[in-house]
Amino acid sequence: MKTLYLTTSEEDLLKGAEIIKNGGLVAFPTETVYGLGGNALDGQSSRKIYAAKGRPSDNPLIVHISDMSEIEGLAAEFPENARKLGEAIWPGPLTIVLPKKPVVPDETTGGLGTVAIRLPANSAAQKLIANSGVPIAAPSANLSGRPSPTLWEHVKHDLDGKADAIIMGEPCMGGIESTVCDFTDPQHPLVLRPGLITPERISEILGIPCEYDPAILSKPEEGLVPRAPGMKYKHYAPNAQMVLYSGSPEDVKKAILEEEEALKKEGKTVGTIIYEDGKQAARNLFSDLRALDEQGIDVILASALDPQDPVNYSVMNRMLKAAGYNIKEV
Ligand code: TXA
Ligand code: MG
Repeated sequence: MKTLYLTTSEEDLLKGAEIIKNGGLVAFPTETVYGLGGNALDGQSSRKIYAAKGRPSDNPLIVHISDMSEIEGLAAEFPENARKLGEAIWPGPLTIVLPKKPVVPDETTGGLGTVAIRLPANSAAQKLIANSGVPIAAPSANLSGRPSPTLWEHVKHDLDGKADAIIMGEPCMGGIESTVCDFTDPQHPLVLRPGLITPERISEILGIPCEYDPAILSKPEEGLVPRAPGMKYKHYAPNAQMVLYSGSPEDVKKAILEEEEALKKEGKTVGTIIYEDGKQAARNLFSDLRALDEQGIDVILASALDPQDPVNYSVMNRMLKAAGYNIKEV
C-alpha cells in the first residue's frame, strides 16, 4: 500500500477522518506518543491494526475519544471516581479502564470485558476523532517490540507502506505512553501502566489511596501476571544491547566511562545515555534509543534513574524493559 502523508491542516484532518470512516488506518500525534488509529467500533479495523504492527491480538487497544460524553456509548458503567479523575486530567496523558458495552468489539479489547478509554490533549488528534464521528482505537504507532514513536519520522520508519496515512504532526512532548488506571473496583483505582500521571496525583484528586499493579516493576520471569496484557511483553527494545548503571551519579559516570573504554578496545561502538531529570528522560528516551540504533551502535550504557521519584519510576519501567532488566549496581 502507498502511505499518504498528511499535514495538520483542517482539510487534511478531514481526509484522515474519511480514511478512518472507511475502515482504514491513520497514524496521528498525541501528547504522549504517536498512535496508529482505526475505527474502534469496527472489529475488522482493529484486526488491521494488529496486522500492521505485528502485535499479538490478546493485547487490547486504547479507545480515543474527543469528548467525555462519548464514554456513555462505550462503557457499561462510569463510576463517580473515574468521572472525577477524567474531569481533572483530561484532555491529558491518562487512560481509564471501565467495564465495556457490547458495541465495543472483542478485537478492540483483546477479548476482555473492559475497555480502555483516553481523551488525548493534542488538537490534531481531537479534530481527527471528532471528524471521524467514531472513537478511534490506537496503540502506539511502532512495530511491535520497538520503542514507541515520538516523531512522525519514527512512524514513517516503522509503518510506511503499512498505514493508509500518517499525519506529520508535532513532536510528542510527554514522550512515554499514558498512565493506565483501572476502575473495575471504583473504590480501589489501580495503575496498570505507570506514566506521567502518578498514583500520588490520582490519590490527591480522589481522596482515596491509589496503588500500582505489583506486577509492573517485576521481571516477567518472577511470575506476577500484569493486569494490562501489554505489560507482559518485552517492549521498547533497541537493536543495541543495553546496560543500566545504578548508584551515585559520580560512581555511575565513572563506571560508564570505564566500560566505554573497555568496549571500544574490543572494537565495539558505544552510546551513552545520562539524564538529569525524569521529565527530560521521558521526553527523550524513545527518540534517543532510535537515534542510537540509526547510528548502528553495538552497546548502550545508560544511567538508571532513582525510582523513588514517581516520574522516574515510570521512565525506569521502560528503561528496564529496553535493557532486558540488565542493571548493574556500582
Ligand atoms: O499514550 C498512550 O496511551 C498511547 C497513545 C497512542 O494514546 N497508546 C498506547 O497504546 O500506548 P498501546 O496499545 O501501545 O498500549 C496500551 C496498553 C497496553 O499495555 C494494554 O495491554 C493496556 O493498555 N490496555 C488496553 N486496554 C486494556 C484493558 N481493557 N484492560 C487492561 N489493560 C488494557
Ligand atoms: Mg505500545
